Amino acid sequence: MHNLDAAGHVRGESQYLDDIPVQRGTLHAAVYGSPLAHGKLLSLNLEAARRAPGVVRILTAQDIPGENQIGGIVPDEELLAGSHVHFQGMPVALVLAETEPQARAAVKLITADIEPLPIITDPREAQAKGELIVPPRTFRLGDPAAAWAECAHIIEGTAENGGQEHLYIETQGAYAYPTDGGGVRVHSSTQGPTAVQRHTARVLGTGMHKVEIDVTRLGGGFGGKEDQATTWGALAALGAFVTKKPVKLVLGRHDDLRMTGKRHPYTSDFKLGLSADLKLLAYEVTFYQNAGAAADLSPAVLERTLFHACNTYFIPNVRATAYSCRTHLPPNTAFRGFGGPQGMFVIESAIAKAADELGVLAWEIQRRNLLQDGQVFPYGQRVEDCNAELSWQAADQKFELKKWQAEVDAFNQQSPVRKRGLAVMPICFGISFTKTAMNQARALVHIYTDGSVGVSTGAVEMGQGVNTKMIQVAARTLGISPKRVRLETTNTTRVANTSPSAASATADLNGKAVEMACRELRTRLLRHAAEDLKMNYEGLEIQDEQVLAAGKPAETNWEKLVSTAYWKRVNLSENAHYATPDLWFDQTQEKGHPFAYHVYGTALVQATVDAMRGTYDVDAVRLVHDFGQSFTPGIDRGQIEGGLVQGLGWMTMEELIYNQDGRLLSNALSTYKVPDLYSVPKVLDVEFLETPGHPNAILRAKAVGEPPLMYGLGAYFAIRNAVRAFRPDVRPEFSAPFTPEKVLLNLYAARESAAAPAASQASGAEASVRN
Ligand code: MTE
Ligand code: HPA
Ligand code: MOS
Repeated sequence: MHNLDAAGHVRGESQYLDDIPVQRGTLHAAVYGSPLAHGKLLSLNLEAARRAPGVVRILTAQDIPGENQIGGIVPDEELLAGSHVHFQGMPVALVLAETEPQARAAVKLITADIEPLPIITDPREAQAKGELIVPPRTFRLGDPAAAWAECAHIIEGTAENGGQEHLYIETQGAYAYPTDGGGVRVHSSTQGPTAVQRHTARVLGTGMHKVEIDVTRLGGGFGGKEDQATTWGALAALGAFVTKKPVKLVLGRHDDLRMTGKRHPYTSDFKLGLSADLKLLAYEVTFYQNAGAAADLSPAVLERTLFHACNTYFIPNVRATAYSCRTHLPPNTAFRGFGGPQGMFVIESAIAKAADELGVLAWEIQRRNLLQDGQVFPYGQRVEDCNAELSWQAADQKFELKKWQAEVDAFNQQSPVRKRGLAVMPICFGISFTKTAMNQARALVHIYTDGSVGVSTGAVEMGQGVNTKMIQVAARTLGISPKRVRLETTNTTRVANTSPSAASATADLNGKAVEMACRELRTRLLRHAAEDLKMNYEGLEIQDEQVLAAGKPAETNWEKLVSTAYWKRVNLSENAHYATPDLWFDQTQEKGHPFAYHVYGTALVQATVDAMRGTYDVDAVRLVHDFGQSFTPGIDRGQIEGGLVQGLGWMTMEELIYNQDGRLLSNALSTYKVPDLYSVPKVLDVEFLETPGHPNAILRAKAVGEPPLMYGLGAYFAIRNAVRAFRPDVRPEFSAPFTPEKVLLNLYAARESAAAPAASQASGAEASVRN
């Protein structure tokens, strides 16, 4: 089944927020953001802006009727700055004008008197000064302090990763209008409709029942609209509430880039102990997360970093500590992988460093330490249905790791300047919100009297294909054609108290609810058929819209069945609730069973570095992925390709740079480079690992949204291996992204103590290149 949205997207017919017809009298909003990263707000000069053409009203913190607070996990974030500003671009005032250009022009006339306060951008500095968002967390297994004595090798080091801009194609935005009875309806580009509803109600000082959020689809979210769509939804609603007119607020790209948070940069210290035969014995790691100026989702992201600190390896003695550090950057937030990639980058760096020092290939260490059934994760969950070894072996068999490595070595022997590197990137990712309570969902299914079906869930379509999956689940469960099923917008009045569409769990949670509702409806209809046609209920089923009795066509089909049921006053609507079974987590012990299941896979990544220019290509990614029993293989393959390329971008070219004043320097697409068609590896092999899937996964098709991003980490280590093929004496530090500049610095930056380049057979031409 194809992604049902594809044709509409290609024809330009799909409706996004900006396509919603604008009502007469709509005001357009633009936001004045703080020009300084930290300071005391002494006064705002709004007069010139008030007099500007088309300006109707300017709102500040004083105009908020309810609470000036949008913090989700920790109440530490104002919607509009009150007495202080905490990051550059923090919303301070909302200009409402007759047109969007007028609103934006007026914003430029606003100035503020701000008394500057010290600015922190470095998480280690924040931690040293006690600037923590939440108390630190530590996960423990075994006794690392005692285990060091048994280790034949102990490796220590530091690893750093940068942030990442989400770059959803559709920028943040909302369109709000007053409704009958003093309420407000908000069309929001959000992954979390209930979050927007809750915080809007809080800001307006009203009940959630007076705030309706509706979402058609997003032009991408990638985590950036899990929490951070709330600001714009609440601001538009505030405008509508105060002026009693519709208010539309859509960020321009530049404002979106500088005002919103991104993937968290981390800096981390590691210590890894190995036995003589390359078994990982002990691991200590300290993560410093750059949370930005407010909590946002940082504590949850931090937690997932700890959950994935050992990636797909068993280490019997672990101590992993994580600090969420408050700085004066825009609050960082969810981004595909949700802290997992940051944790996994550090263990992979530690293994790479161990490989350097022991003179072995990293994959020799990786291979020997893969998780096995019966072991335990540091957070107490037992390893079950583990496909780590299976996916590694399948990748090895299909792509012939040893032979491939030999080819790379042979290439490097005869190629003086261009060098290749190969890396293996196995992954293990836990599926479920790590906050147990969030693992619930509801679905509302109506069968109309003509046999067509309307389905509402809490799932938000953001390009990942969840609508197509929901339709498929409904059609299969009812035994009808997907053409009869329509997926409605995501609306808080039809499905309430939703968890955000996130954690890769949207299809599982909402799909299970759809399945339950449809099963109930099918049962009800077949009981009616049994009575109506005086048949045995046992053995009745619906297949391809035909009712079958003991496998043979009965006197009725789907349309007749629905119609007669209606006339017999059978209820044709159902609302179902699903909660993932057997989940729990005890934060006082940092132990529990937080995940419904895990997703595994193994990628082989080859890169070629031009050691004269520092440029490189990621030539090939060949991977085996554990989809379970995929029922939408086209969509799922697309998720692998998109996630992988997004991970490659993070590891190679996407470089966010803030200066010491907390100003984002890479604040445009001319200075922030994301992967394009030419960055996609020429060879991109995605093989489906044959596994039974998991009963907690929808129709046994495992969640696929986030895990593939982490295959991208392989590119970092493939490039690093290629650099070392040119200069084996060099030990590149672990600092992602590995930009071409960093490749050059690693190859040529003066190193007094460095031994002569080991490529001693290098030609004279090459030697002169090095000078
Ligand atoms: N794919 C597309 N095309 N657009 C997106 O915004 N978001 C990713 C992933 N794939 C995203 C995407 C993220 S961060 C998550 S958590 C999952 O999709 C969410 O959807 P799912 O739970 O249905 O997998
Ligand atoms: N993953 C993604 N998003 C989330 C999570 C999680 O574990 N918890 C809260 N939001
Ligand atoms: Mo995804 S980062 O869980 O929205």
